Amino acid sequence: MSNIGSFDERVRTFDWSIAERELEYTAGSGINIGWYCADRICAKGGAQKLALLWENAQGEEKRFTYDDVRVYSNAVGAFLRRLGVERGDRVCLFMDKVPELYIGAVGVLKIGAIAQPLFSAFGDESLHVRLENAGTSVIVTQRKHASKVRKILDRLPQLRHVVIVDHDGARALKEREVAFRMEAERVETLDLCPTTAESPSLLHYTSGTTGMPKGVQHVHYSLVSQYLTAKWVLDLTEKDIYWCTADPGWVTGTSYGIIAPWSLGVTQVVLDAGFSAEAWYRLIEKYRVTVWYSAPTAIRSLMKAGDELVKQFDLSSLRHLISVGEPLNAEAVVWSERVFGLAFHDSYWQTETGSIVISNYPGLPIKAGSMGKPFPGVTAGLLDVQTFEPITAPGVVGVIALRPDWPAMMRGYWQNEATYQAKFKNGWYMPGDRARLDREGYFWFVGRDDDVINTAGHLVSPFEVESALLEHPAVAESAVVSKPDPINMEVVKAFVALKPGFSPSDELELDIMNFIRKKLSPLAMPQAIEYVASLPKTRSGKIMRRLLHAKEWGEDLGDTSTIEND
Ligand code: WT7
Repeated sequence: MSNIGSFDERVRTFDWSIAERELEYTAGSGINIGWYCADRICAKGGAQKLALLWENAQGEEKRFTYDDVRVYSNAVGAFLRRLGVERGDRVCLFMDKVPELYIGAVGVLKIGAIAQPLFSAFGDESLHVRLENAGTSVIVTQRKHASKVRKILDRLPQLRHVVIVDHDGARALKEREVAFRMEAERVETLDLCPTTAESPSLLHYTSGTTGMPKGVQHVHYSLVSQYLTAKWVLDLTEKDIYWCTADPGWVTGTSYGIIAPWSLGVTQVVLDAGFSAEAWYRLIEKYRVTVWYSAPTAIRSLMKAGDELVKQFDLSSLRHLISVGEPLNAEAVVWSERVFGLAFHDSYWQTETGSIVISNYPGLPIKAGSMGKPFPGVTAGLLDVQTFEPITAPGVVGVIALRPDWPAMMRGYWQNEATYQAKFKNGWYMPGDRARLDREGYFWFVGRDDDVINTAGHLVSPFEVESALLEHPAVAESAVVSKPDPINMEVVKAFVALKPGFSPSDELELDIMNFIRKKLSPLAMPQAIEYVASLPKTRSGKIMRRLLHAKEWGEDLGDTSTIEND
């Protein structure tokens, strides 16, 4: 029997107080995610239970019990306090998937500071805009990433300390740098910051169509959503060995890679390494993984590696598979059912929603290709693309709309009230996606409602890439759109007009690609560059991205005069 039991019964009788009771939280009292992820589990007899089974590409292994997470997160919290970090300060976590990232986040939350995780593959420019926007005062990183921080230090006067977690102390530290070894001392006690439901917890940056990335502000009360969705959608129980393949630089890796599993006292596995089908299957076999939360690009990559490889491993421990981040194509669901004997359950949500809002559930029939139904307690519908009136007829495309009343919903964009308000209409929150509903209330994803590129489950803003391209000496102007890709669903493509004196060449193409990879990230790097003499523009001079996009996707443009008059 699954945790959720009967889906329909849960919908009928739903109340968030179900989770509050289990968490022994009463409205108005204190709530601190950091404490829930370690100290509470220890207090309930779980101190010696394994919280984290970690390994990296070099085959190094580490194991942490819940008591280890408790004392080392205390150590992180105490150290940051000694550096002067106070409640509400932004502390950026800029690391690979090392234990310090996971346990560090718990420590930051315990002292009431705001954890700002950033993907470690980000280049100096991506890093700079996010640290500057957040007014971050401390960044915690590894030696291998410190050079990117050094490059932008001059432009970040508010960044007081650069904490390096793997510095041996032998070599000299550079400006503002300080060495910290998490496991040097077991810190038994730490004064917990008395955070309450609406105290800020995490600040996750996400990309939009226009403007720079936005900081999505979450609060400690989000725990209530993350806990219950993990129980009912991921079906996590105390016996599980859970593997969330997402990086905590992105929201899946924090909501369901730190907060959800640890607040439930579950043992989780982390692989700090790049993708390899063989390494993934070996990990599942070795640790006897039971619940696996992954993403469509990874599943498509596994499909590509072939069925024969699957047969070389004993994957019989697996019992529940869930996916998130991009459309999960029907073929991937059918394939997983064939090779693992288990269908991947698609789930839909985003950085702003903080927790799963639409999903497939254990026990509820899966319609391959559909995202499933709203989580009990989440009201979801579709609105007309033009009038924003609710759509009830099945099969009609509309924008997804959610009543913003579940605990993990964002509380705002960091210092950007106008953009936040623009996401709401008539009391609905619009995540920026289009879908269809069928007669049984299942949602079918259609596409984004904006120009944001979703490559391998990661959002890339065309605006951010275009801005960075303009800094390349050869680029006069550019337009960035998505291009279809069999594995990553979409990849970045740039149309580039060169400055006088530069001519198209393969070397220049590579140079531009590397320029973006280093400045922004490997994800944002254009996989294709097309040289053009000029870019199509509206009469008012706006570049017509939509025209280029339609060409890439072989879509009919219809009446282009409306585009030109934009
Ligand atoms: C955007 C959110 C929280 C998940 C990690 C990404 C797209 C997400 C699905 C899905 C089709 C999906 C949407 C969404 N997306 N899940 N199951 N099917 N599209 O979080 O970076 O904030 O991206 O990813 O477009 O708005 P994110």
